[in-house]
Amino acid sequence: MPEQTGRDIAPATGKLGVMLVGLGAVSTTFIAGVENVRRGRALPIGSLSQMATIRLGKRTDKRAPKIKDFVPLADWKDLVFPAWDPIPDDAYTAAVKAGVLERHEHLEPIKDFLQSIKPMPAVFDQYYVKRLQGSNVKRGKNKRDLAEQLRADIRAFQKTAGVARIVVVWCASTEVFLTPGPAHQSLAAFEKAMEQNDQSVAPSMLYAYAALMEQVPFANGAPNLTVDLPVMERLAEERNVPIGGKDFKTGQTMMKSVLAPAFKARMLGLSGWYSTNILGNRDGEVLDDPESFKTKEESKLGLLEHILQPEMYPDLYGKVYHKVRINYYPPRGDNKEGWDNIDIFGWLGYPMQIKVDFLCRDSILAAPIVLDLALFFDLARRAGLSGIQEWLSFYFKSPQTAPGLYPEHDLFIQQTKLKNTLRWMLGEEQITHLGIEYYEKA
Ligand SMILES: NC(=O)c1ccc[n+]([C@@H]2O[C@H](COP(=O)([O-])OP(=O)(O)OC[C@H]3O[C@@H](n4cnc5c(N)ncnc54)[C@H](O)[C@@H]3O)[C@@H](O)[C@H]2O)c1
Repeated sequence: MPEQTGRDIAPATGKLGVMLVGLGAVSTTFIAGVENVRRGRALPIGSLSQMATIRLGKRTDKRAPKIKDFVPLADWKDLVFPAWDPIPDDAYTAAVKAGVLERHEHLEPIKDFLQSIKPMPAVFDQYYVKRLQGSNVKRGKNKRDLAEQLRADIRAFQKTAGVARIVVVWCASTEVFLTPGPAHQSLAAFEKAMEQNDQSVAPSMLYAYAALMEQVPFANGAPNLTVDLPVMERLAEERNVPIGGKDFKTGQTMMKSVLAPAFKARMLGLSGWYSTNILGNRDGEVLDDPESFKTKEESKLGLLEHILQPEMYPDLYGKVYHKVRINYYPPRGDNKEGWDNIDIFGWLGYPMQIKVDFLCRDSILAAPIVLDLALFFDLARRAGLSGIQEWLSFYFKSPQTAPGLYPEHDLFIQQTKLKNTLRWMLGEEQITHLGIEYYEKA
């Protein structure tokens, strides 16, 4: 067995600034959740970094520490949360408006803390998010100037808050659908495009550029391209910064990435998958605009194709009808309902149906993902990793991968990849699940 050596990981000393783009439902549920946990008033349920264990060595070794005790993650007490948002509400007001957390139980007791988080003026342009209007917006002579203002925000925050490290997580609205173009191919082209106010440069790309230039990791929780562009991938490598995206994998798509691999594992066929949602929060309102919905739709549609590999299994998956709908329905607020009708077929082609009705809470599912991504991106940076962090695809609907590489969408392959990466970082043996040694005669 080759000797295992881990990576040099800088210690997690000092404060970690988790800079949030967008101070809406997901961000405030995340921040308020962390503060409630810090005060011993709740548990960080849904967070792998806090609650999951990791097996080390053989099953008979009985070594299974919690991940947070195995890898050097930033401590809860060291997290601080600045944010940008075009809507000037502080985190308390935004959380009350979002209506996710029970006001008396989880917001009033930490009201002072939440009120102290006031969003910095955002780089915002209604062309990219049609259904939003905001007054807390930066002005500049062109997009490059706006990006420079974001860089200045990052530097100023680092200084005034005395943080040792920073990560940026995009928790802002989904932008209109864009495809990679000439402006996204090189740094020179991108910088020129910013100066010329090129329409193919969306606000999210300005945040990404600013973060990477400041050597700050960037995770993208929405389906916009943002860091999923050649220019950003190269910049991340050059500046030695980890990046990742896109689109938090929470409700319906998480279920899809569990169910579809099960059908494929058993060689059951699929003829159709119809998914529809009703959702009444601001995210639902933004996604009611067809251009923002298109960005989301692309992100939600891609995974079945990658999991099922119809080109390898034409008899089983050659003719799948896949449809995804999101319907804005205000009475439901953040408490989304997602229905799936799945038409499968088995032995000799006999049809069967599965119905899933997931009454989920969008931001309750997303908040622990923000926490884990912030902590793991910070860990990746301290471990000297840069560029796309595919090991964190566990958290994303459309995981970013190296050019030419298809993404792994199966949740349990992603989980194995994540845990094996942590083992690799710390110089522990990989777990292959071969297990032959338990049966070999001495
Ligand atoms: N909750 C989930 O399960 C889930 C899953 C996957 C992805 N997402 C994505 O996460 C994002 C946040 O979701 P949410 O429910 O918190 O939405 P939200 O509408 O409550 O919050 C988004 C916030 O972003 C702000 N914003 C918009 N453009 C901005 C900009 N350019 N700069 C700074 N702030 C900006 C908005 O003003 C708003 O306050 C959305 O893009 C959503 O699609 C959420």
